[in-house]
Amino acid sequence: MFEPVDKQALADRFGKAAQSYDQYALLQKEVGRNLLSLIPDKEYGNGLDLGCGSGFFLSDLQQLCNYLLALDISTGMLKQAKQQSKAMAYVGGDAEALPLRSDSVDLVFSSLALQWCIDPVCAFK
Ligand SMILES: C[S@@+](CC[C@H](N)C(=O)[O-])C[C@H]1O[C@@H](n2cnc3c(N)ncnc32)[C@H](O)[C@@H]1O
Repeated sequence: MFEPVDKQALADRFGKAAQSYDQYALLQKEVGRNLLSLIPDKEYGNGLDLGCGSGFFLSDLQQLCNYLLALDISTGMLKQAKQQSKAMAYVGGDAEALPLRSDSVDLVFSSLALQWCIDPVCAFK
């Protein structure tokens, strides 16, 4: 039977793992690197790392975007990401209810975060 995602519990779990996340996230790094390699190499205005986690990909994304925003539902992960100082802004938020204006982002990068959404179609919109 399908159980809806408890987002607060999910955010807390990721938050608890934030400090050691990079150490163990080998698959996540490989997936994200593959995803990065698919981005057309040009300059983007506003970039968003949606579900940025520990911020592992912010450095690469910073090279592509003039203004980079890191967003995650987990405050613990955001705190970890902030330590990298690669994004211009760090925002707590839900991919399914983005606290952003429509059409305000030129590049959305999201690696292994959207599977946690209750309604991914809503997040894609
Ligand atoms: C598997 S980690 C991936 C982190 C990073 N993208 C990477 O590849 O290293 C998933 C991240 O998505 C975040 N996340 C999960 N559901 C989310 C949602 N609805 N909105 C925003 N972030 C979410 C989690 O807090 C977690 O930091």
